[in-house]
Amino acid sequence: MRSVGWSDPTAVGPYKVRALIGEGGMGRVYLARSPSGRLVAVKVVHPELAGDPLFRERFRREVAAARRVAGAFTAPIVDADPDGPLPWLATQYVPGPSLREAVDLAGPLPLDACLRLGAGMLEAIIAVHRTGLTHRDLKPSNVLLAADGPRLIDFGIAWAADQSTLTRVGEVCGTAAYMAPEQAVGGVLGPACDIFSLAAVVVFAATGRDPFGVGDPAALLFRVMHADPDLHGVPQRLRDLVLPCLAKDPARRPAAGQLLPVFAAALGHGPLAWPPGVARLIRERESEIAAHPPTPGPPSALPSPNGHRSPASPPGANPPAPSPPAPNPPAASPPMANPPAAVPPGAGPRGVGAPAAGPGARPPPPQTPAPPPREI
Ligand SMILES: Nc1ncnc2c1ncn2[C@@H]1O[C@H](COP(=O)(O)OP(=O)(O)OP(=O)(O)O)[C@@H](O)[C@H]1O
Ligand SMILES: [Mg+2]
Repeated sequence: MRSVGWSDPTAVGPYKVRALIGEGGMGRVYLARSPSGRLVAVKVVHPELAGDPLFRERFRREVAAARRVAGAFTAPIVDADPDGPLPWLATQYVPGPSLREAVDLAGPLPLDACLRLGAGMLEAIIAVHRTGLTHRDLKPSNVLLAADGPRLIDFGIAWAADQSTLTRVGEVCGTAAYMAPEQAVGGVLGPACDIFSLAAVVVFAATGRDPFGVGDPAALLFRVMHADPDLHGVPQRLRDLVLPCLAKDPARRPAAGQLLPVFAAALGHGPLAWPPGVARLIRERESEIAAHPPTPGPPSALPSPNGHRSPASPPGANPPAPSPPAPNPPAASPPMANPPAAVPPGAGPRGVGAPAAGPGARPPPPQTPAPPPREI
């Protein structure tokens, strides 16, 4: 998580931005706070995608469907604006690393944690499928590990970007490793594609390796379609569960409703216990929030309904919490590769608030340099 830079918005709709969580193929994700103090993760769509009418249409439709998803292991969508200058989506903030980060930093998960992860994701997928949606982009970065279990994010919306005329090279690469074969050939997609990806994600959790390897996207897709997954190191009990899910023919994969009781039966009876390395990462996420208190200083430029800029909150309404000492000294970061576009004047009341300075604006004078982004 990083402090926001001069090119980041100070507010997105009614949400006051506190920090930059990360960036993916569709947009940048910010930690933000609702007027009543609720923490949300706001994904602000990249300007290139925002300018594509086909993307906007699908984003609007998929977000409307995704808002109906309710489950214990899905991070609910709490708000969205598909029509603003930059469309955005606010999801309940989950304090925990993604599975990708957790495994990269703390190593593969033990069997019991893999089984709980699989069972939680199956419940999540059942909740998604119940609304008629398929996730289509189930991968380790779209599974977050919270203290009380996994949370699935980004359901449905991947499709909007995938179908966009502006899908960027390289994104396919990131996703290809977890695509079902029928996705790889652009075939008809149903719930079975999520079962394939879910099993691939569980294999990653158990081994720390992408089950079809890494490398050139074309070669990767070829292996997804024709090669056996690399299950080396997957405990036998887990291997028996995931292997049928990785069938090349979607009709041969078990349904989520059949799999869930099988995963549940394999679980131990004790409470969920993430390995110590993952538990530490979760605690770190929780304390990072305290390290990014609500932004003090000048009022944020939240457009009012009449188009005039007005303070997001009255002075003193939101006093900054005392900040604990930073564990690491702030590191200077390179300029952001892809800053959000400037918001046109007169943007609607739910638009993205003005960046601290737009791309066309002069950077602050030398005597008042913008604080460098901080890495926590
Ligand atoms: N609700 C949330 N709570 C906490 N962190 C989140 C939430 N949603 C997203 N993130 C984090 O924000 C970061 C960026 O997410 P994003 O979905 O943009 O990237 P990605 O999954 O790598 O790529 P893609 O665009 O293909 O989904 C990730 O580290 C993710 O864990
Ligand atoms: Mg994601």
